[in-house]
Amino acid sequence: MKPVITVIGSINMDLITITDDFPQQGETVIGKSFETKPGGKGANQAVSAARLGAQIQMVGKVGMDAFGTEMMAMFEREGIQADGVGQNPDTSTGIASITISNNDNRIIVAPGANHTVDAAYITEFNEVIRTSDVVLIQFELPLSAIMDAIDLCAAVGTPLIINPAPAAELPDEYWLKAAYITPNETEATKLFTDVDVSVLERLQSKLIVTKGSSGVSYQEQLIPAYPVETLDTTGAGDAFNGALAVALAEGKDVYEAIRFANGAAALAVQKVGAQEGMPTRKELDAFLTGT
Ligand code: RIB
Ligand code: NA
Repeated sequence: MKPVITVIGSINMDLITITDDFPQQGETVIGKSFETKPGGKGANQAVSAARLGAQIQMVGKVGMDAFGTEMMAMFEREGIQADGVGQNPDTSTGIASITISNNDNRIIVAPGANHTVDAAYITEFNEVIRTSDVVLIQFELPLSAIMDAIDLCAAVGTPLIINPAPAAELPDEYWLKAAYITPNETEATKLFTDVDVSVLERLQSKLIVTKGSSGVSYQEQLIPAYPVETLDTTGAGDAFNGALAVALAEGKDVYEAIRFANGAAALAVQKVGAQEGMPTRKELDAFLTGT
């Protein structure tokens, strides 16, 4: 049986410009190319997990515009159940303006419909959450909706992975309700440096910190990243989180789940576009066994 994973999160169209140089303030530069590709941390994590063989239910919102329609078509193509994706006629679909130059990126997100997801909307999915093996959320939705999702997961006992990206503060008791929390290094420093020692102790077994090309640290151990040629790191964290959710939902132990997720991220960064390089289960298994 396929594990059932619910992803509660953002859905964006990524507007990607490739350039040799980033413009300075007040400057215009001529770039190399432009493409639109589906993105948003929530949608990306849903795609990562779906390709690896989980049954995915997506909860979020898009606008009733061309990008929204394209995102709905993407969910269908990827076999992601999108009954939980509302189309809001009053606002635009979220977008991310992404500029990529020599392995470096700059991103501006205009949340649009994502910011119309509220606690009342999340509560409609109580039953979906209850019957899921794992729930995955990120921080591109309003904090009130995120807090409601955390409460619902805790109330029905569904394991929750919180990917606090981009970083936002939460009261300590919310962090404690997660099964795992997956910040990158910057987010971890921002969110957990000043946390009370007694709380931090209880968070130790939950904190999985991603450190880009050096790997992932968990319980003072570094699980190294696979060395690969990197073309675009946008969505690497999303590939990781989607894969981590699948592995944990399948009952793998956490170290094995991290290695599996590192493999997914290694394949994802080799193509331009957040979802582009995300591997199928077959591709990831082949990569991990070196065949
Ligand atoms: O994590 C990568 C994602 O962040 C991009 O797809 C973009 O949409 C932003 O939300
Ligand atoms: Na990619």
